[in-house]
Amino acid sequence: MTKIKTVFSCQNCGYQAPKWLGKCPDCGSWNSFVEEQLTAVPDRPTQAASISGQDIPPQSIAGIETREEGRLRTGVSEFDRVLGGGLVVGSIVLIGGDPGIGKSTLLLQALDKLAGNGVSVLYISGEESLRQTKIRADRIGVSSKNLYVLAENSLEKITDDLKKLKPKVAVIDSIQTVFTSQLQSAPGSISQVRESAGRLMLLSKSTSLSTFLIGHVTKEGAIAGPRVLEHIVDTVLYFEGDRGHPYRILRAVKNRFGSTNEIGVFEMKDGGLEAVANPSQLFLAERPIDVPGSVVISSLEGSRPILVELQALVSPTSYGMPRRTAIGVDPNRVSLLVAVLEKKVGMNLAQQDIFVNVAGGVRVEEPAVDLGVVSAVASSFLDKPIPSQTMVIGEVGLAGEVRGIHQAEIRLKEACKLGFKRCLLPKSNRSRILLELPGVELVGVGSVAETLEILF
Ligand code: TYD
Ligand code: MG
Repeated sequence: MTKIKTVFSCQNCGYQAPKWLGKCPDCGSWNSFVEEQLTAVPDRPTQAASISGQDIPPQSIAGIETREEGRLRTGVSEFDRVLGGGLVVGSIVLIGGDPGIGKSTLLLQALDKLAGNGVSVLYISGEESLRQTKIRADRIGVSSKNLYVLAENSLEKITDDLKKLKPKVAVIDSIQTVFTSQLQSAPGSISQVRESAGRLMLLSKSTSLSTFLIGHVTKEGAIAGPRVLEHIVDTVLYFEGDRGHPYRILRAVKNRFGSTNEIGVFEMKDGGLEAVANPSQLFLAERPIDVPGSVVISSLEGSRPILVELQALVSPTSYGMPRRTAIGVDPNRVSLLVAVLEKKVGMNLAQQDIFVNVAGGVRVEEPAVDLGVVSAVASSFLDKPIPSQTMVIGEVGLAGEVRGIHQAEIRLKEACKLGFKRCLLPKSNRSRILLELPGVELVGVGSVAETLEILF
């Protein structure tokens, strides 16, 4: 009889304990422990446990040959950029995101392009039947003959099929639905997810198969979060966006073969996802002109500056407690900036509700947007519009000073390209800019008070 061992593992972070715990000592989440049975795994062949699949003794680092890793271009330009210039052969990429955001659609489209270029690809769905996948494929015009589809959950069957068909690229949609019969815990539990991903990783590395793993992330962490996989895989991408908006942003958060913080912008249309080559133009398209509370800021996403509209609405409080709501920017940051406006500029905001929103469902998380938040709030409070051809960038300190930001030049270039006439930026950045920007007036500012003086 095989001995049955049980462990309790945190479904949020994967921490394991011999007995049940109410609170995870590692990640701090409550009531996240689930009992999982581990049957003694029969001895694995040692070969399967090695990354290269061969027995290679230790080597001197000086003697190891390096080649530029081979890359496969998917042909979806935004996707390739986020991957760091294409998919590295033999790499394993995790794509996380909320359910319904468009992960399956994106990968089906990317696989179709690859297949169209003669690369053999296999799409494995554990969530949808072949018919459902076909209906989606028809909807987005995917029809390549080299694109193979498999509806399967069992890890053993999946690895068998991968070994038989020998595709160059495979997609597992999603890793939470895959399970191995060697573990007794339920599909989607942390040990199943980790074991499946680990085995697929070894298969990828030893056969030069490139694998995409799709993973659902839920805010509550109810399903075993793919976060536990982040250290196993080569690249982690997050696909995010607001369900009410058509824009989707693909973000690299870890990349062994390229820069992180690159983003790709897509628009979800009736016929699938479309790459957006000029996101600034898109995000600014519906901007109201000369309306109080609206300002254009520049947020740097990876190597790319994106201009977005930031809106603020300040109105007298009708209940006792004034409300402070921020969407798309850090709410704590907004509270801090409001306090700076009160204390350093003398603006009386104590009895005002303040709402701040980034248009288009984009999220900006950079100190460089501080000055934009301050300007938009002041503009709404004073009921005076900021001229529509003006961009505002800069970090704000607690003393009301405007501090320098990084990469000011490329942000200004983007603003110039889109026809902006005036840019307010930190003094320290202004003095260092040697660039010729035809038609753009650069105004260096040292403090919040000075900024508001210039604007209004
Ligand atoms: P999907 O790729 O199934 O999301 P995920 O795999 O991340 O769960 O996308 C689902 C949503 O996308 C669904 O709400 C409908 C929408 N959609 C479109 O708007 N246009 C399309 O062409 C497709 C295929 C989906
Ligand atoms: Mg899906």
